[in-house]
Parts: sequence; structure tokens; C-alpha cells
Amino acid sequence: MIEIAKYHSDISRISSVDLSNPEFGKECSDHMFSAYFENNSWVQPEIIPFGTIEFLPSMLTLHYGQSVFEGMKAFKMHDGRISIFRPELHYERFNRSLERMCMPLVPKELFFTALIELLTIDQAWVPSASGTSLYIRPFCFATESRLKIKISDSYRFMILMSPAGKYFGKPFRLKVETEYTRTAEGGTGYAKCSGNYGSSFYPVKHAIEQGFDQVLWTDAKEHKYIDEAGMMNIMFMLDGKLVTPALNSAILAGVTRDSVLTIAKDQGIIVEERKIAVEELRSFLESGKVSEVFGTGTAAVVAPVKLIRIGDADYEIPEPSENSFHSKAYSLLNDIRTGISPDPHGWNFII
Ligand SMILES: Cc1ncc(COP(=O)(O)O)c(C=O)c1O
Repeated sequence: MIEIAKYHSDISRISSVDLSNPEFGKECSDHMFSAYFENNSWVQPEIIPFGTIEFLPSMLTLHYGQSVFEGMKAFKMHDGRISIFRPELHYERFNRSLERMCMPLVPKELFFTALIELLTIDQAWVPSASGTSLYIRPFCFATESRLKIKISDSYRFMILMSPAGKYFGKPFRLKVETEYTRTAEGGTGYAKCSGNYGSSFYPVKHAIEQGFDQVLWTDAKEHKYIDEAGMMNIMFMLDGKLVTPALNSAILAGVTRDSVLTIAKDQGIIVEERKIAVEELRSFLESGKVSEVFGTGTAAVVAPVKLIRIGDADYEIPEPSENSFHSKAYSLLNDIRTGISPDPHGWNFII
């Protein structure tokens, strides 16, 4: 059994945070988890007050980018219990990312014990207002001090937590990106490594300057097929079928994606995971057969799209209604997480 040392914070910052509508990612809870990978094993697991950490400027992660992270959420249930949404899937993806970046895997017992004990200590930070949650950020980075390009021999695994409100308030505008790429097949797109995000900023910044909110990434080779949307997976309701790009090594396998597809299948909706050509999407849009377009992700949950730019043409997506599939899926997901609706697939991990 893993023993985690605990060093409690002298004072709590919780009273200074508006838990009824917290700004996503702004404040961290009072404590954080930390463990070190040294001499081929994970050592010194501890929960310590949230605060600064020390490192040398020659730390490898700052130079060569061995850094991966996860993002999941804990919810206050209707009956006061706290549950984490599908942490198993996040754990598996974390290790897939670590493997891709030549970093040591985190043992399941360490990951889950750290998660449960940190959440137990800072349980008061789980907000209860509708649409709110406690965002959980496990991450791992190379710590060896060396200027030479090499795989680090030492690492640190940490977990932070931050109360979260709603992410995207209103339906957003997407631009199909055909100049820049986020990643390519054979690259690191399926891993949640920091570099994927840093390299996305430039094209997204350009799209924002042109009046869009996000980009719709296309494949790196031909810019012909749709990959995903910004920091979300993308789904289309095409002629009554829920269609989403099939996973490949350039696409992150979203936990929300899997959950929404499962909800759709449960409701008898035909689901297709396949290649979607931009031109196919254009002809569906032109024939008025696209009733919904939405992104899925832990931060945004389900985020409707109101406009898609393909080349020089703008296509408006119908306004979402209460009967839209994604509005219903959003409510159902919230109800499952808070225990209002049954959890037939065992998605809630109750603390
Ligand atoms: C690039 C990218 N795609 C998709 C997703 C959605 O994944 P999930 O639903 O697991 O949050 C995210 C968010 O984590 C992301 O960063």
C-alpha cells in the first residue's frame, strides 16, 4: 500500500474564491500532490500546500518538452457525495501520453491513491452550483538538469485541482484550417503532451484575429479530412446520424467523445466514426442536412458551433434547441455525474 505523507496548509484560501461561478483554471485548491521518479522508481509521494516549486533553469522539460498532462473533473453529487468522471480512461490516456514521450508510466495505485487523498483533503473545494466542478490536472515533467538533448532520467508527477464554472458560454465560430497543422499521423496528436498546445496557439491566434473562436483541424498531409476542433473533438449531426472523425494517431481520444457517442447509441441514434472530408461536410451544409455541430471535451463538456468557415464561404448552423441531441446529451451527462440520472455504464468513480 502506498503511504502518502501529508503536510497541511496553515490557512485556507477558499473563502476568497467565488465557488458559485469560478473562473476556469484561475485558482488552485489549498493542496497539491507531488512524487518524484528517481533511480527507476517513484518516491516521496506527498500532499503539500499549493505553492511555488524550485527547479534549475537547466531542467530538461524547459528545453526539450518532455511534459504531459490530463484534465478530468470531480462533481458534487445530489446527495453530497463526490465523484470523479471516468478517471480510469484519463489514467490510461495519461500513460499512453507518457509512453509516447519516453517518460516513466505512473502505477495505477499511485495515481488513484494520490487522487483520492488529495480530493479528500480539499473536498470543500468541489463546487455544487449547476454546471460547476473541480477540475483535476495530473501532470508529469522531466526534471533532470542537463543542457544536452536527451531523455531525462528523473521526473516529477504532480496533481493540481481548480474549481471550474462553465467554459464556453455561447455557440462558437469555427474556421476550417488548411494552412497550419496541429499534428500529423505518426506524430503526438493522440498524446496529451504540452507541445501540442504550444504549437496550436499561433494558428488559433490568427483565427481569433479573423473573428473566429477556434479552428477545425484537418489532416496534415492533404488538409482534406477533418481531425478535431481546437481543444475538443468534433461531432456533426448529418441527416439524422451522429458522425465524428474516426480516431487516428493525430486525434486525441476524448473521454467526453466516448461518453457522448455511448449516450447516442443508448438512444438508438446511428453513430458513424469515420473519415469526414471537408468537401463532404460542405455538401451536407449546402443541402441543409446538418442540424447540429458541436465540440466535446472535459472543459467545455458539449459546446455548440454556430458557424463554420470553409475556404471563403461561411455556413450557419441552426440554433440549438432544448430538443437538440447535444443539449440533451449535455443535460444527461450532468445528471449522471450528479447522481440525478442512473449511471448505467459505471462512469462515476465515487470518493
Ligand atoms: C486536443 C484535444 N482534443 C480533444 C479533447 C477532449 O478530450 P476529453 O473529452 O477527454 O477532455 C481535448 C481535451 O482534453 C484536447 O485537448
